[in-house]
Amino acid sequence: MFKRNLEINGVMQTIVTSPDAKLSDVLRKQLLLTGTKVGCGIGECGACNVLLDGKVVRSCITRMKNVPDYSKIITIEGLGDHDNLHPLQLAWMVHGAAQCGFCSPGFIISAKALLDENLNPTRDEVRDWFQKTRNVCRCTGYIPLIDAVMCAAQILRGEVDEKDLWKEVKAGDSIVGTEYIRPSAKDKVTGVWDFGADLGLRLPPETLHIKLVQAKVSHANLLSIDTSEAETMPGVFKVLTYKDVKGNNRINGLAFPSNLGDGLDRPILCDKKIFQFGDAIAMVLADTPERAQAAADKVKYEIEELPAYMSAPAAMADDALEIHPGTPNVYFVTNMVKGEEVDPIFETAPYVAEGDFYVGRQPHLPLEPDVGFAYFGEDGKLNIHSKSVALHFHAAMIAEGIGMPLDNIAIIQTNAGGTFGYKFSPTIEALLGVAAMATDHPVFLEFNMYQQITYTGKRSPFFINLKFAADEEGKLLAMKSDWTVDHGPYSEFGDLLTMRGAQFIGAGYQIPNIRGQGRTVATNHAWGSAFRGYGSPQSLFASEVLADMLAEKMGMDPLEFRYKNVYREGDTTPSGCAPDVICIPDMIDTMRPHYERAKEDVAKKNAQNNGKKYGVGLTLLLYGSGLDGADSAEAWVELTADGVTVGASWEDHGQGADMGMLVHSHEKLRVLGLAPTDIKLVMNDMNLTPNTGPAGGSRSTVMAGNAIGDACDNLVRALKKEDGTYKTYAEMVEEGLPLKYDGKWTAPKVACDVDTGQGDPFPAYMYGFLMSEVEVDLETGKVIVEKFTIVSDVGTVMNKLVVDGQIYGGLAQGLGLALSEDFEDIQRHTTLTRCGIPQVKDVPDNIEIIYQETERPLSFYGASGAGEMPLSAPHASIINAIYNATGVWMTHLPALPEKVKAGLDALEK
Ligand code: FES
Ligand code: FES
Repeated sequence: MFKRNLEINGVMQTIVTSPDAKLSDVLRKQLLLTGTKVGCGIGECGACNVLLDGKVVRSCITRMKNVPDYSKIITIEGLGDHDNLHPLQLAWMVHGAAQCGFCSPGFIISAKALLDENLNPTRDEVRDWFQKTRNVCRCTGYIPLIDAVMCAAQILRGEVDEKDLWKEVKAGDSIVGTEYIRPSAKDKVTGVWDFGADLGLRLPPETLHIKLVQAKVSHANLLSIDTSEAETMPGVFKVLTYKDVKGNNRINGLAFPSNLGDGLDRPILCDKKIFQFGDAIAMVLADTPERAQAAADKVKYEIEELPAYMSAPAAMADDALEIHPGTPNVYFVTNMVKGEEVDPIFETAPYVAEGDFYVGRQPHLPLEPDVGFAYFGEDGKLNIHSKSVALHFHAAMIAEGIGMPLDNIAIIQTNAGGTFGYKFSPTIEALLGVAAMATDHPVFLEFNMYQQITYTGKRSPFFINLKFAADEEGKLLAMKSDWTVDHGPYSEFGDLLTMRGAQFIGAGYQIPNIRGQGRTVATNHAWGSAFRGYGSPQSLFASEVLADMLAEKMGMDPLEFRYKNVYREGDTTPSGCAPDVICIPDMIDTMRPHYERAKEDVAKKNAQNNGKKYGVGLTLLLYGSGLDGADSAEAWVELTADGVTVGASWEDHGQGADMGMLVHSHEKLRVLGLAPTDIKLVMNDMNLTPNTGPAGGSRSTVMAGNAIGDACDNLVRALKKEDGTYKTYAEMVEEGLPLKYDGKWTAPKVACDVDTGQGDPFPAYMYGFLMSEVEVDLETGKVIVEKFTIVSDVGTVMNKLVVDGQIYGGLAQGLGLALSEDFEDIQRHTTLTRCGIPQVKDVPDNIEIIYQETERPLSFYGASGAGEMPLSAPHASIINAIYNATGVWMTHLPALPEKVKAGLDALEK
């Protein structure tokens, strides 16, 4: 131990700690300055950045022995607070720069150091600075962050008055379509927005810390587990194996009836087999995390290693073992049957194009690793706090497995530092439940980034073979599709995902005749979980790249090919139903002049012969808002003495559920003369909020929004007097009338049929039309996306900051999917950087968003969801642009520089 005297946020403090302690641990665990976040823990993300004597340091890799005595440290808490915001904090709010907010403190601290040095930076200088300080954001696409720094610099230079940045909203005024700041923003930019790890530091002293014993192989029979030595280790309270699980020890994957498995294939703790790398074999519970880890390292187990099937083709081989004995590795099949048989059409069609496509195992890469805790409440209920974005689903999926009646489980969402869909699946909920039940103590489990990356679900790869046939005029006649989904070892939602292939391969186009088949395959690679776009990035990649291939064969411009074939009145989707609105032709018309400009720019740049090639590529973007069929959601509102309280389980990945709940309720309630600040939100606690359904499939704006709208309508109706005025709270109380009103909305939709893929699955769709402009380095194969231009139609834009943020962030993730992101090599793809997370200079600072707002008929305010459309196919437009530039088709993602270079070399030969 040693002593340091440090001035922390202006206050001298004496700290006794180990010389090898990390500065981040001292700040967070000893001083409880939890505004400093730890994401990667190894110096790759900047979430932990603080100022040490005015210089930016990554506190997670700064040892205390390297922190000089009497040095000055500034953390986010030292910059400003709710009542005294630093201009950077204000600018961060005004520009919507805090989505999940996990990266915000680290970015703001880095920006402070920049502006201390240079009060008049250019945008490029800001980007260079953040690249140097290693700040990474997974949510925002970076542009709002650069905007915020430029704005703060203007404030500090005295060119802008802070007061002018606050837009006042008068009681009764609508905030729909405005840049109203999300309610959580101020907490996020001041560092007081607690994430799960922050709450974990404040749990009671009797809390037990969990560490997992995890499999180091991908497929094995588990022969024995020996916990004897671990149990004797200091501080250990208990070591748990499958024998301690009180239920059936299975997560319920909610399998479709036609699934050949029963959905009970994922053990909570391994019993007979290890199905993938990282599977949990045992849990150690001890008084500190360090002691739990030391004991976990002493748990021994014997295995019989089996062949590991690390891709769908390997698991489909004739001699492959059944990964789940008794269930074939191909355990679900769905067919597409629309219109006439297609083979005769392909035989006679004047134009046919065919291709093979692969979209891989994109990792979600939230900056906040998975985390949660559990305890029994006063009422005896098992409370589980986690990043779940599907509270009621997850309770149902774990109840039998852990052996707890469903109505005795309450899942509560912690503030989430990004999920992007991986938390649509339960991750640690069942482990927490088992641990709390076995020990009757509060229990806490926190993954590090390595565990987050290697042992949470991933986007499931699709192998797609696709064929289009078109007539002389370029009208699509037929499509034939075949897709294979590698879903890893666990089946949960694998059937639903495979159905997305039927719904989205070829979506956006009128294709009268379709035949196809998709199948779900168990493998030993990472289990498949939802990822933003859920099936559409794989599906649309195939159809949007093949669209360009076919257009080229016909000598048609790819924009005009799309214009000719996109949905118009009377057309039907691949699912055989009418689109919700007809809006794509107008979007293409809007894009056309931008496209002409881009083609001219590209031609000029290519004439330079500078060792680079430039290209432009297009794609449709498209996704449904909803689960599939008669989806429903519930909410409540309550009149209070101070205003109205709104309750719903509208889970927040960081996308802005708080803003969603506020804008939807306020728009209905403003007739009562309410300002947004008169509305209080109660969110995401099964003890308090009803089943609003999961925050997935971009369903929340439509489903939760309509349920909240219904509840508000019921309240407003109850308050309305005959003269058209409204009763007050006092009048309602005096008359003994109910103050709380429920709302519910069910989508009048029909799930797709497994045998034909036909149905009417979604209450609304979201559409985009995207153009990418790229530069390809002919020497290295490196691709730079110079600009995105997007025409977006997500119906009514309910909050512009939120929708802008979804579009920027989604496009950045699509860029990563196209060029760098992967989780294929389980030994190498283990950090944010190695998984290819886009850094600030990888994402263009030039993203032009053009909104078209076609009102959606089934949504109370005409809005669809917005979160998934921007990630549905940007990678297709980038790949089309690479081809336009070079003549190289990159049909297997990601298009890493060496793959592009190999393609260029092959062309030359
Ligand atoms: S750089 Fe420290 S947490 Fe990522
Ligand atoms: S807002 Fe940057 S990581 Fe979420």
